[in-house]
Amino acid sequence: MSRSPTDRSSWTRRAGFILAAVGSAVGLGNVWRFPFQAGQEGGAVFVLLYLCFVLLIGVPAMLVEFTVGRRTGRGPVGALAEFGGGAWRYLGGLFILIGFLILSYYSVVAGWVLRYVVGSVTGGYAGQSETYFLDIATGFDALAFHAIFMALTVAIVALGVRRGIELAVTVMVPAVVFVVLALVVYAWTLPDAGVAYEYYLSPDFSLLASDWRSIVPAAAGQAFFSLSIGMGVMITFASYLDEERNLLVDTGIIVAIDTAVAFLTGLFVFPILFTAGVGPADPGPGAIFVALAGAFADIPAGSVVGVVFFGMFAIAALSSAISIMEVVVSFGIDEFGAVRRRTAAVTGVAMFLLGTPVALLSSQRQPIFVTLYDTLAAQILLVSGGIVLMILVAWIGADRAMAELRRGIHSPGILPRVWIWLVRIPVIVVLLVTLALAVGDYWSFLTGDFADFLGL
Ligand code: TRP
Repeated sequence: MSRSPTDRSSWTRRAGFILAAVGSAVGLGNVWRFPFQAGQEGGAVFVLLYLCFVLLIGVPAMLVEFTVGRRTGRGPVGALAEFGGGAWRYLGGLFILIGFLILSYYSVVAGWVLRYVVGSVTGGYAGQSETYFLDIATGFDALAFHAIFMALTVAIVALGVRRGIELAVTVMVPAVVFVVLALVVYAWTLPDAGVAYEYYLSPDFSLLASDWRSIVPAAAGQAFFSLSIGMGVMITFASYLDEERNLLVDTGIIVAIDTAVAFLTGLFVFPILFTAGVGPADPGPGAIFVALAGAFADIPAGSVVGVVFFGMFAIAALSSAISIMEVVVSFGIDEFGAVRRRTAAVTGVAMFLLGTPVALLSSQRQPIFVTLYDTLAAQILLVSGGIVLMILVAWIGADRAMAELRRGIHSPGILPRVWIWLVRIPVIVVLLVTLALAVGDYWSFLTGDFADFLGL
C-alpha cells in the first residue's frame, strides 16, 4: 500500500473537524433538495419521516463512519480493506463511484447558484424570475457556471484539507445560520405564510397511506444526502483525526446544525413559494430559484438580500462539494500514491464531463435528468453504501468499533453496545426495506417517465 505521508494532512485546530463536517453536511441538500423533495412527497408527512430517519438512522450511521475512519486512518476504500479485509476492498469502489455521480450534477445546480449571485448584482432576474431561470438553467450559461464551480472546488481541494477546507468553512457556518434566520423572519410576514406552515408542519397521514412507497425511500435518501453519509465523506474526515474526541458529542452537534438549517429553510421557502403562487405539489428542481428570486425582486433592498443569500448558498455548496471531491482525491493519494494537485484536476474534469448532459438538456427535459442522477445517487447508492458499512462494522468489526467509540467518551457505559445492536438489526432491516422500495420506484421511473422521454 503506497501512502504518501506529505500529502496526507490533518486538522490544525480542534474545531477544524467539526467545521469541515458541518460544512460538508450543510449544502444544496438543505436549501435546494430538502424543500424540493418535501414539496414533491407530501409536505409535513415527508418532513416528519425525514426527521425520524435522521435520528434513528442518521446518528448511528454517522457514528459508524466516524469510528471506522478514526480507527483506520484511511478513506473508505482503505478503511473497508483494513476493517473487513480481502473482498471488502472492492466494495470501496462503490464509494468512489457515488462521489463522481453526485458531484457531477451537484456542480450544475451549484452553478445556477453562482449565476444567481451574479444576477442579484446585475438585477438580471428582477420582474422575470421564471423566464430568467429557464434562460440560465440550461445551455451555455449553465455549462459555463458548472465549469466555474467545478474549478473552484478543484482549487480548494488542491490546496489541501488544512488551508482550503477549514478556511472556507469557518466563514460559511455562521453566515449560513444568520441569513437563514433572517429569511425565516421575513417569510413570516408574507400573506400566505399561514397556509404554507400548515402544509409544511401539519402532516396529512392519508398521503402516507397512499404514497408510502415513494415517500419512505425519499425521506431516507434525503437523510443520507443531507448528512453526507453513505459515501465515506465522514470516514475520510475522521481519518484525519488523531485526538481522543468524543465522537458522540460531535455527531450530535453536526446532526443538530444540519437538521436545523434544513428545517428552517422549509420555514422560509414554503411561505415564499405559496405566496408566489407556485403551489405545493411538485415544485421541481427550479422552483426554489424562481420563488426566491421573485421574492428578492419584490422586497426593499432585495438585491442586497439576494447577493447575501445566494452568496452564502454558494459557499455552503462549495464546502459540500469539496468534501465529495476530497474522498475521491484522497483515494488516489492513499491507494496509488498520486499527487494531490494533479488528481484533483483530473477528477474535476471527469466530473464536469459527467454533469454536462444535465447542464445542456433543454429545460423541459432537465428535470427528468436531475431525477435520473439524483434519485439513483441518494435513494439507491447512498443507502447501499450505508448498508455495506453497517454490516461491516456491526457484524464483522463490532469490537473494534465499540473500542473506538469508547475512546474519548468518559463513561460510555452500555452506550456502545446499544449502538451496535441498534445498527445490527433494526437499522439494517429498515434500510434494506427503503432500498427495496427505492429500487421499485426507480424502476417505474425508468420504465415510465424516462422511457417516454427517450421515446420508447
Ligand atoms: N450533504 C451535502 C448537502 O446537503 C451534500 C454532500 C456532501 C453529500 N458530501 C456528501 C451527499 C456525501 C452525500 C454524500 O448538500
